[in-house]
Amino acid sequence: MYVFKAAVLGAGTMGAEIAQVISLSGLPVVLKDVDEAQLERGMAHIRDIYARRAQRGRISEHDAEDRIALITPQVGFEGFSDVDLVIEAVPEKLSLKQAVLAEVEAQVSKTALLATNTSALPVTEVGAKLQKPQRLVGMHFFFPASVMKLVEVIAGSETDEEYVDSAVEFVESIRRIGVRVRECPGFLVNRILMAGLAEVFRAERDLGLQPREIDAAVAASRLAPMGPYALADALGLDIAEDVAQTLSAAYGERFDLGDRITRLLAEGKRGAKTGEGFYTYTG
Ligand SMILES: NC(=O)c1ccc[n+]([C@@H]2O[C@H](COP(=O)([O-])OP(=O)(O)OC[C@H]3O[C@@H](n4cnc5c(N)ncnc54)[C@H](O)[C@@H]3O)[C@@H](O)[C@H]2O)c1
Repeated sequence: MYVFKAAVLGAGTMGAEIAQVISLSGLPVVLKDVDEAQLERGMAHIRDIYARRAQRGRISEHDAEDRIALITPQVGFEGFSDVDLVIEAVPEKLSLKQAVLAEVEAQVSKTALLATNTSALPVTEVGAKLQKPQRLVGMHFFFPASVMKLVEVIAGSETDEEYVDSAVEFVESIRRIGVRVRECPGFLVNRILMAGLAEVFRAERDLGLQPREIDAAVAASRLAPMGPYALADALGLDIAEDVAQTLSAAYGERFDLGDRITRLLAEGKRGAKTGEGFYTYTG
């Protein structure tokens, strides 16, 4: 199946980045959110990504404008009837994802491929309310999707193999590396990442270390481009908490993040996207 036109649901941390990646490969993409302000933030973020590429000489300003024009931000379902692929990137809540996908299924053609960007929820459960769950795949991009090449592609227990093949072909067509991953909580990357995060939080508590010290040590080691606290802020603390809950329910204590993030969330601190998390962000 060839994708001539795509749609992304959710213009947040991931949705905006995914729409940018799709537009860069020359495909029209509808970017739908329920929140006008979020659409504006998402489009501003996309323009920033293109501006940086233009500054580095990786795209001309003229071509950047053309690519941005391929993205249609909207709150409604206009133009969904000829969309070949929908990627859902709404918050990591099972019931919300089920409802959003069931709603969009009624708007697209019978053959359109549906994908969820869930970080950790079972694809089979995400697709449980669909008329045709055979067409749902997990298509898990990583933050920031405009930079990260890897995309996990996951089949649920109902997914038809031809849709999985189409998903991998699509991922490759937008210059990403698709890896087929077996369905399990957290898939491959988040299973490793969240176990590591839980260890770091334990070390902070048991050894009396400060987040800033740990981040500085990790960055200096060059094992990763940023430390675990800065990363959690960048991913979004609400998302990290939801993913950790899914994993600790599935695998037990080794994925338990304690109340480190819960306390920040109770103060309304959701990381870089709200200006405060482990760190404070200005500008
Ligand atoms: N943040 C990350 O680093 C990361 C990485 C990989 C995957 N994910 C996954 O991607 C998904 C989205 O995460 P995020 O960090 O972008 O969340 P986010 O909170 O930044 O953005 C979610 C967006 O969805 C919108 N939304 C809510 N209900 C909607 C609806 N019914 N229709 C359309 N839009 C709706 C919200 O207004 C918001 O703009 C989650 O499943 C998350 O687990 C996140």
